Amino acid sequence: MLFGRTNVNKFLVEEQRRNPALAGDFSMLVSDIVRSCKAISHGVSRGALAGVLGDAGSDNVQGEAQKKLDVLANDAFLHHCEWGGHLAAMASEEMDDIYPIPAGNPRGDYLLVFDPLDGSSNIDVNLSVGSIFSILRCPGDIAKPTVEDFLQPGTQQVAAGYAIYGPATMLVLTVGNGVHGFTLDDEIGEFLLTHPDLKIAPETKEFAINTSNERFWEPPVRRYVEECLAGKTGERGKDFNMRWIASMVAEVHRILMRGGVFMYPRDSKDPSKPGRLRLMYEASPMAMIIEQAGGRASTGRTDLLKIKPDALHQRVPVILGSRSEVERLIRYHDEYDRGEDKPFTSPLFAERSLFAGGD
Ligand code: AHG
Ligand code: MN
Ligand code: MN
Repeated sequence: MLFGRTNVNKFLVEEQRRNPALAGDFSMLVSDIVRSCKAISHGVSRGALAGVLGDAGSDNVQGEAQKKLDVLANDAFLHHCEWGGHLAAMASEEMDDIYPIPAGNPRGDYLLVFDPLDGSSNIDVNLSVGSIFSILRCPGDIAKPTVEDFLQPGTQQVAAGYAIYGPATMLVLTVGNGVHGFTLDDEIGEFLLTHPDLKIAPETKEFAINTSNERFWEPPVRRYVEECLAGKTGERGKDFNMRWIASMVAEVHRILMRGGVFMYPRDSKDPSKPGRLRLMYEASPMAMIIEQAGGRASTGRTDLLKIKPDALHQRVPVILGSRSEVERLIRYHDEYDRGEDKPFTSPLFAERSLFAGGD
């Protein structure tokens, strides 16, 4: 099919015609983001040949060691998105403070929030990573954007998306009218629409959680996972499969393709952190994508999209994916909070069982 596929620019112009609220520069702003993702995709794919692997030797504001590619990917977003005149400011997981558009460049009334490289612990082992972004409107004076302008609940997002740098590079995008996937055709340098109107299967037999944290989980999450592990012989009456890629982009992408549930729940590992993932850079944009694809996204107690951030780098518990599974997890949290959950009775976890320890 030589000329048949819609490229991302045409898709955006058509969306903008359909929805007049996507005013002015919207499609051009997304084009700048797309250019950032293409540049990052190129850097990631060159790997050791480009000398981009390994640590940068610095920490980000959250005390996490930065990879060289975390810094390069952050620079790619700034470089491609700061000159177009569509933004008032940007904020990123890798920057301490907001980044107002430098003096000398025109400003627009959008704000861009991003995780430039998600899953960056996978970089040095050549596994999938991605970039996540979210577009908001600037409610305040675009001449003086503030942190407060950014602190909007996920329901206010104009658009959200991610790029996944996997065996193929893909862009997955929502502008509030479903979720659409584009595959990068390296030959012509364009993202082409290959996965229109993605929908998440409501039922699933696949879950994703870092089980090394099990001892820190709350009872409702333990209950859910234990029931999945009990399989056909347990409460659920069916066998489950488990996956953990350590890249939220890759987990969400798998869920969009074939269903599933992803959890980075509240845990007691570090009481100062209510969760591992960041609300503005990871949870909110992914929640918009998941819900636009018919799934559900929650902390277990609150819809992720309804949370108004208190701070730029705020962390939250995240449970998202196939609707019926997320709703089950919400019910388990509710039953636990009300003291109504029945004691778990799976034979797998009974005393002297496979998982119970003992002699
Ligand atoms: P980042 O690389 O942007 O810091 O994000 C990594 C996140 C997320 O993508 C992934 O789900 C999770 O951290 C992995 O956590 P563990 O290292 O605990 O597996
Ligand atoms: Mn991340
Ligand atoms: Mn990151």
